[in-house]
Amino acid sequence: MQYLLNLLLSLSLFTSAYAATAEDWRKRSIYQIITDRYALPEGADLNACDPAKQTFCGGTWKTIKDNLDYIQNAGFTAIWISPVSQNYEGPRTPYGDPYHGYWIADASKLNDRFGTADDLKALSDELHSRGMYLMVDVVVNNVMALSTKPDLSTYMFKQESQYHPYCPIDWGNTTSEQNCWLGDLNVTLPDVNTQDPTVVSAYSAWIKALVQEFNIDGLRIDAAKHVDMQFWPQFCGAAGVYCIGEVFDADAGQALQWQGKQALDAILNYPVYNALVAAFAIPGAQNMSALTDMIAQVKQKSSDPTLLGNFLEDQDVPRWASISVDPQSLWNAMTFNWMSDGIPIMYYGQEQGFNGNADPMNREPLWPSKYANTTTYQLATTLNKLRNHLINATEDWLTSQVQVLSSTQEAIAFMKGDVVTILTNVGSPPANVTIAARTPFSNSQSTTDILTCTQFAIGSNGSVEVEYSKGGRPVILVPEELLENSGFCGHNAATVVSGKGAQGAVTTSGASARPGPVLLAAGFAALLAALAL
Ligand SMILES: *[C@@H]1O[C@H](CO)[C@@H](O)[C@H](O)[C@H]1NC(C)=O
Ligand SMILES: *[C@@H]1O[C@H](CO)[C@@H](O)[C@H](O)[C@H]1NC(C)=O
Ligand SMILES: *[C@@H]1O[C@H](CO)[C@@H](O)[C@H](O)[C@H]1NC(C)=O
Ligand SMILES: *[C@@H]1O[C@H](CO)[C@@H](O)[C@H](O)[C@H]1NC(C)=O
Ligand SMILES: *[C@@H]1O[C@H](CO)[C@@H](O)[C@H](O)[C@H]1NC(C)=O
Ligand SMILES: *[C@@H]1O[C@H](CO)[C@@H](O)[C@H](O)[C@H]1NC(C)=O
Ligand SMILES: *[C@@H]1O[C@H](CO)[C@@H](O)[C@H](O)[C@H]1NC(C)=O
Repeated sequence: MQYLLNLLLSLSLFTSAYAATAEDWRKRSIYQIITDRYALPEGADLNACDPAKQTFCGGTWKTIKDNLDYIQNAGFTAIWISPVSQNYEGPRTPYGDPYHGYWIADASKLNDRFGTADDLKALSDELHSRGMYLMVDVVVNNVMALSTKPDLSTYMFKQESQYHPYCPIDWGNTTSEQNCWLGDLNVTLPDVNTQDPTVVSAYSAWIKALVQEFNIDGLRIDAAKHVDMQFWPQFCGAAGVYCIGEVFDADAGQALQWQGKQALDAILNYPVYNALVAAFAIPGAQNMSALTDMIAQVKQKSSDPTLLGNFLEDQDVPRWASISVDPQSLWNAMTFNWMSDGIPIMYYGQEQGFNGNADPMNREPLWPSKYANTTTYQLATTLNKLRNHLINATEDWLTSQVQVLSSTQEAIAFMKGDVVTILTNVGSPPANVTIAARTPFSNSQSTTDILTCTQFAIGSNGSVEVEYSKGGRPVILVPEELLENSGFCGHNAATVVSGKGAQGAVTTSGASARPGPVLLAAGFAALLAALAL
């Protein structure tokens, strides 16, 4: 009894800030936003934003809040926004102004360029009322300055000993990568001394307060591998939420050592991103072995592949359309990110076919697209709807790991749970290519490709064949039993609870997994009553 009472008290007192764990995040799909570039206030000039100018275009936390339908209607259940901390505010630098939010001055203050504390709370509240999560990007490794001897009085850390002394990074030397300074001499990025106990405790207190004040559900950690690994468990422990790190490294062994108890819950999956480029981009290596090989490496080296972040674009890599001319290559690679292990992430504008290459051209404003309902937007909607349905309808689809069934240089067939996905790199033109995949299904099993609502027959040995005479489309074969209540291909949709929060299939289950303060209070009262206290 005393134990229960303590448990109840601790729940009611300390979970008043939401705390979404890795387990909670595994179910989510994430839409990534650069706050300055997602939406404009009403009446603003829609033609005034040129990414080449590297300056502010006018997006805010409020304009995100006012335009969430576009994201939720596509079935996304979380957003990740660019950093919210105060940035450098001086004259324009050789690399423009800090519209992206990564040039931290005083981390403990909010960036008033993007709104007030109330605006950020309102965004968080609105997301939660829709059953969606808020992930915030945080920069811990460094601050920003214009010299190697900045005036420290304007930063959160004011002592020289709280920074590593200036040195340029000697790439390949891990100590140097962690302790020397990113950036260059035009814009320096003074490296915070995360081995200093005063820094560790101040950062822990700061992140705990930030997460609680704004009900943040998860953190995306910038430049995670440039901080000593031991720093992360304490920092993320203080935050009490899922942490996914940027470990910009294509090597599975190097990158995945940053996932696990000794480091972070998860990392953004740059190794698989690079393999997807190698496998699908047109023109390109079109090397499917690079992907099958990477799937095997990730299985072996990841502490949990189902928690990794799957993406095709972000603010640091070229837009897919700038490296691959064929839209089928995008649709096949996207389908991989939703139907294999990991959390799907889509960078704003990917659905609009934006084609900016390197920074700053890959940070286009979204509004010129008029938020159109494009084929890619519809594919994301379909993939989210299916994934959300599978999460709700099965016990283990999310945690069961991908098995490759077969592959050639032109196609790959894999299975996760009972869903078979067959992808190809032949591109849009009709191709005289057939792929046969051997499934564990019996020949009486009825399966439907949910992207075309075509039935696929299973051969006597469990084989299924896909041909590309109409071009290289992705195929997702779902057994008939799993389509019940899915809303796909003539099947009824599950009855969705009414109210704002219930638009995306997963929102109701997601919300119930993590009660808000009202539910929690009611639950507390009910439990107290039940215990007759
Ligand atoms: C690696 O970098 C550190 C920090 O700059 C330096 O002290 C050390 O000598 C370097 N090690 C090697 C092998 O170059
Ligand atoms: C500083 O910026 C200028 C202008 O972009 C560039 O030409 C120069 O190479 C940069 N200097 C350093 C040290 O990176
Ligand atoms: C394809 O990828 C595999 C696995 O990464 C690699 O060993 C091979 O050299 C690549 N082939 C080509 C032609 O790039
Ligand atoms: C986008 O278009 C498709 C096909 O016409 C339609 O089913 C879907 O409802 C549209 N989505 C939105 C958000 O308007
Ligand atoms: C497709 O390829 C097969 C085997 O290579 C060949 O026999 C057949 O004639 C081809 N069909 C067309 C339409 O090119
Ligand atoms: C399965 O059987 C069919 C004939 O029924 C055959 O053509 C095919 O090669 C077999 N596939 C596999 C993967 O064994
Ligand atoms: C989840 O699945 C159950 C049946 O298992 C169904 O009643 C419910 O409506 C589904 N919820 C959503 C949001 O799809």
